[in-house]
Amino acid sequence: MTLMPTFEALKARLEPAGQTHLLGFWPRLNEEQRFALAAQISALDLSSLFEMKQAIEMLHSQKPRELSPAPVVELAERRFPYLLGDDAEKARGAGAEALRLGKVACLLVAGGQGTRLGFPGPKGCYPLLPLSRMTLFEIFARKLKRVGTKHGKTPPLYVMVSRQNEGLTREFFAEHRYFGLDERGVHFFAQGELPSLDADGKLVLESPHALFLGPDGHGGVLQALTQSGGLAQLQRDGISTLSYFQVDNAQVPVADEAFLGLHLTRQADVSLKVVRKLDETERVGVFCLDRGIPQIVEYSEFSEAQSKLRDERGLVYWAGSIAVHAFSVAFLERLAASSTRLPLHAAHKKVPVLDARGELVTPHAPNVYRFERFIFDTLPLARHVVALEVPREEQFLPLKNPDGPFGPEGVRQALDHYWRQALAAGATAVTHDRPPQLEVDPLLAENARELAEVLASRRLSAQDLDRPLRLT
Ligand code: UD1
Repeated sequence: MTLMPTFEALKARLEPAGQTHLLGFWPRLNEEQRFALAAQISALDLSSLFEMKQAIEMLHSQKPRELSPAPVVELAERRFPYLLGDDAEKARGAGAEALRLGKVACLLVAGGQGTRLGFPGPKGCYPLLPLSRMTLFEIFARKLKRVGTKHGKTPPLYVMVSRQNEGLTREFFAEHRYFGLDERGVHFFAQGELPSLDADGKLVLESPHALFLGPDGHGGVLQALTQSGGLAQLQRDGISTLSYFQVDNAQVPVADEAFLGLHLTRQADVSLKVVRKLDETERVGVFCLDRGIPQIVEYSEFSEAQSKLRDERGLVYWAGSIAVHAFSVAFLERLAASSTRLPLHAAHKKVPVLDARGELVTPHAPNVYRFERFIFDTLPLARHVVALEVPREEQFLPLKNPDGPFGPEGVRQALDHYWRQALAAGATAVTHDRPPQLEVDPLLAENARELAEVLASRRLSAQDLDRPLRLT
């Protein structure tokens, strides 16, 4: 049985950090509540308070940056059906070989809270496809099965979840029998959590006996993968490369031969995919160099003038990150071995907090600093980084918002548009004023070229496209 630390011991722990207010409601807590609060206080990493305060300073100071555009393997053909840059096309074989030898695992980060979308469950459970209502999780699972059929080995899938959605995510996969994947090849692991600070640098409570905690960002994957034993498992299984993607991207290839091949042949520690930004206002991180060091700079950290900067080819900072990466497992091991923790980023948010009476009060303006680590902060630590430009409509259709182009209807329309082009090879006019009614099973084809191969023996007419059509 674990003994509960005494009030005095907890106070002694909190005093040097100026956080004794956490014990302010102690006299009125019952035994169980005291136990819960004591456990949280004991687990607190008080040494990170300094790092948090630094992150707040960074948020408010205009960090001087010396930005310049970074090298990217650009598309060879920018029009549908598109062609990747030569180097990537040539490396396809190396990627395929790694997949055939079972040296690749997929890493899906799905720990976010999906607040922006306004969907009450884990985002991966969102029924997205227009006809089958297939969910994002099933889309990824079916894409993975296709990779297995093509290369004779299905890469294992590592799914990062958070305390908020772990139970529901695990249940969802179990309920749907892992969407046909081998259960032994699907590994869930939970990311860590971080507390928040108010404007006075005080840790925030969400109830008289609980700290306000939130997921530690996708950068928490480093620690979570190590602590859960996932990294050791990858080593044991002879996995050398991780194919990393986010839960929101409906069009992401889960294990792209050309991208993995480019990453391997260039011996990169980290690789990333980029698309041309739609315009200077698009809210994506931009791949660029800061004093010559590759990194992703968030849209919020760009000055207006920098975002708008143009040359004869368009935006100078055009390379929008779609948050798809390849990681060398050896690189992640090096980071783990040196206990590297990625930097904290602060965000000022509106969070209901307790008043002096212990009542929750909803604020009218941002009142609390939340903290996250970002996976792309691995870029400056890498010895070699490679960036590949990919076609947006083929590989980047993220579900982020309740409406607009990145809402469910927008994503369905874009998918419909893409597949219609694929089927009609650009000859049939695409109508946008009716609901999407064309769907391609991810198990069948991932992009236009693959669909063309599959359909070489199955002719479809323009009339076929006038009624709901699900290609399986
Ligand atoms: C992110 C990237 C941005 C990129 C864009 C592409 C950040 C800070 N920015 O923006 O550079 O251009 O995607 O779509 O990430 N997640 C976790 N745990 C967490 C937080 C997030 O697993 O604690 C996962 C989410 O489930 C999601 C992904 O990370 O899969 C992205 O998170 P989100 O906060 O939505 O990123 P964006 O702001 O859209």
